[in-house]
Amino acid sequence: MSVKDKLNKDLIPSHIAIIMDGNGRWAARHGNARIFGHEHGVEAVRSVVEGASEVGVRHLTLYAFSTENWARPKEEVNALMSLLVHAIEQETGKLNKNNVRLGVIGDVEQFPLEVKDKLFKCINNLKTNTGLHLILALSYGSRWEIIEAVRKVADYIKQGSVLPENITNEFFESFLSTKGIPDPELLIRTSGEYRISNFLLWQIAYTELCFVEKLWPDFRKEDLFEAILEFQARERRFGKTSEQILS
Ligand code: FPP
Repeated sequence: MSVKDKLNKDLIPSHIAIIMDGNGRWAARHGNARIFGHEHGVEAVRSVVEGASEVGVRHLTLYAFSTENWARPKEEVNALMSLLVHAIEQETGKLNKNNVRLGVIGDVEQFPLEVKDKLFKCINNLKTNTGLHLILALSYGSRWEIIEAVRKVADYIKQGSVLPENITNEFFESFLSTKGIPDPELLIRTSGEYRISNFLLWQIAYTELCFVEKLWPDFRKEDLFEAILEFQARERRFGKTSEQILS
């Protein structure tokens, strides 16, 4: 029986987030430059998007470029930009065929004009699709996102549109870039690193974390299914007791 067949179809996480880590180390192990790892990372993205669609995941958020990644050597940043645009453009047809809708979270204003244009063109071309919602976190960082939200809330207060005592979780969340998207139920990080790296800090308050040893370019949909199987075996208590959950 394959791992996919073992999955409980009624317990598929509706939102999975992934920190795709290990491209550089993968390239080094293959005696190549870092970009070689990123290039092979695209194959992993393809497989995971396919797998998530197959089992009915509704939202898949991939951490593709963090606010901190801007500090990498210029050649790597440029190469990553071209790779992203190329991959998104090249995959649009297939994504469309698979009914995938594309979204983006992050400070995309920082991106070169050409990258932004192409990205928004693809998002527009796929906007009526009703299957998997693939969200790319680009120039994304949670601290940036939270500060942006706080600024907007402060503006509301300044205008007298809301009283501080009326600020609820829901109100605050409406200013985050993930507005309208349910919090991830499962977060996967590859490459054996046990960190969150400024990713969806607000949204992962009750998310199950799954750390995988494989480097991202080696990750495939079967590994995604393994992570979902592990998720399905966990007891999610949301601060309650086990007895309360089971009663
Ligand atoms: C982290 O590995 C990976 C990235 C910063 C980039 C991820 C990008 C891709 C997989 C390319 C394509 C993406 C899409 C969505 C088409 P790292 O470079 O930090 O690896 P290291 O920790 O081994 O150095």
